[in-house]
Amino acid sequence: MSKLHDFMEKRSFALLFGILAVVSVGGLVEIAPLFFIDSTIEEVDGMRPYSPLELAGRDVYVREGCYLCHSQMVRPLRDEIERYGHYSLAAESMYDHPFQWGSKRTGPDIARLGGKYSDEWHVLHLSDPRAVVPESVMPPYKFLLKNKINAERYTKHLIANRRVGVPYTDEMIKMAASDMKTQINPDADDFDGFMARYPKAVVRNFDGNADDITEMDALVAYLQMLGTLIDFNEYEATKGENER
Ligand code: HEC
Repeated sequence: MSKLHDFMEKRSFALLFGILAVVSVGGLVEIAPLFFIDSTIEEVDGMRPYSPLELAGRDVYVREGCYLCHSQMVRPLRDEIERYGHYSLAAESMYDHPFQWGSKRTGPDIARLGGKYSDEWHVLHLSDPRAVVPESVMPPYKFLLKNKINAERYTKHLIANRRVGVPYTDEMIKMAASDMKTQINPDADDFDGFMARYPKAVVRNFDGNADDITEMDALVAYLQMLGTLIDFNEYEATKGENER
């Protein structure tokens, strides 16, 4: 047995300091770099702040506690990727305050939901889940069809999000109320301007009621956007380049 080993083994305080010294090297290597970099999130093409209507839908999602039964985080495990699609990236929740990863799946993960169903399916399912999935235990949210959203008041939500770091531009904030109306009306005058501000946004009259912006419009707009912003074929290609 070496002399040092013999020495350490018989003196608990020496051993304790020895352990602390070794562990703190590991800690320094992991923690110190975090103080010198601006962000730990790798930027990915395609991620953009939520459109005002999507943001309103996200607020409904949070208010109704959908996160208690649905996660929005596909783990990098084979069975999850085969079922839901590409595993989630940190960048996908960079504009979420608070994030909606969730920790329980009474229902399925919905991080890759956008485009999976039609708007009509969502409206029917949210109004009466058992009308489309007889064994469902999801509660009905029919009242969302009746709750109207005041677009003019929504500007403040964008400003609040900007304060916590979401890069809404002055133009986005100025146009917030108008953008919210545009997203439920494909014939709106400012369609092109809206699409330039929020690429890939789905513009449709989601709930079939063209007169009002309802919470149902907002929630379905949000659900149809989930997981559609990043082109994962492109992401895999550029990732390959960086690694080479
Ligand atoms: C009590 C738990 C519970 C709550 C709360 C809940 N859900 Fe569900 N959800 C489920 C279950 C279980 C399913 C699977 C059966 C079904 O499709 O109805 C489901 C399915 C879904 C689906 C279909 C997903 C897919 O890929 O097929 C969507 C979309 C959905 N829920 C959205 C929502 C939204 C939005 C909210 C909040 C307004 C919500 N859920 C709240 C339990 C819940």
